[in-house]
Amino acid sequence: MSGYDDRDGKIWMDGQLVEWRDANVHILTHALHYASSVFEGERLYDGKIFLSRKHSERLLKSGELMDMPIPYTVDEIEAAKQAVVEANGLTNAYVRVVAWRGAGEDMGVSSARNPVRMAVAAWAWGDYYGDAKMQGAKLDIAKWKRPSPETIPTAAKAAGLYMICTMSKHAAEAKGCSDALFMDYRGYVAEATGANVFFVKDGEVHTPLPDAILNGLTRQTVIGMLKDRGITVHERHIMPEELEGFEQCWLTGSAAEVTPVGQIGEHTFEVGALTREIAESYEKLVRS
Ligand SMILES: Cc1ncc(COP(=O)(O)O)c(C=O)c1O
Repeated sequence: MSGYDDRDGKIWMDGQLVEWRDANVHILTHALHYASSVFEGERLYDGKIFLSRKHSERLLKSGELMDMPIPYTVDEIEAAKQAVVEANGLTNAYVRVVAWRGAGEDMGVSSARNPVRMAVAAWAWGDYYGDAKMQGAKLDIAKWKRPSPETIPTAAKAAGLYMICTMSKHAAEAKGCSDALFMDYRGYVAEATGANVFFVKDGEVHTPLPDAILNGLTRQTVIGMLKDRGITVHERHIMPEELEGFEQCWLTGSAAEVTPVGQIGEHTFEVGALTREIAESYEKLVRS
């Protein structure tokens, strides 16, 4: 299988479509050294990107939060995504938009004189958790904690927040798990390495308050779906000791969609009726 840098197709970069293999940056790119990068992960379903504008708005917000204003408007980002989808003839795909501090006059920590650049790539991508999608994913518990919003802007979808995700996912995979669940700096249940988490008990749903985690667009969509069904949703601080008492669990994310969870550490969950119903309804919603 060829690498992601070695494919046919077009990538949008700083205002124009370039050949996939030519979408490169210089080694002295600020982002590569100091994580000055924000991004979005989106899915195209039957020719339409689900919640496309909301993703573009969040990208701009992430740029602001990370003190790297992105020199494009929502409409311009939307047009760039559209151009990539069309140029690559895609109808169902994953869309990655990334904005970063490029190379420039600064090579220290300060980067104000370096341009903020942007690129959009898209490719066909199946289920994020593979077979786990229907059987229930197995999750490890990460040894790292999601940081305080006083440590880093936790509402940003920024590269710097993902290093502990990568390390935790490596550790999880080495144990035969598909992903890892984080606690936050206070010890509350937080999120997975690229997805939010939901639990079911006695017909009601519980999910962590998004006060130190990404308030995922899929999370918000699924909360709306549950409320429309008259199901009570508790957005609250959840202690790890509570995992034992939950009956069902699922993850949400643009890449993960709605993925049932069968196990977290020692705790097991059934892939129950509500989990299946929400996963199936989400699949219909994104294509409606
Ligand atoms: C750490 C983290 N939490 C949650 C999510 C879910 O966010 P969304 O549903 O907006 O994709 C993601 C995925 O982007 C993520 O990376």
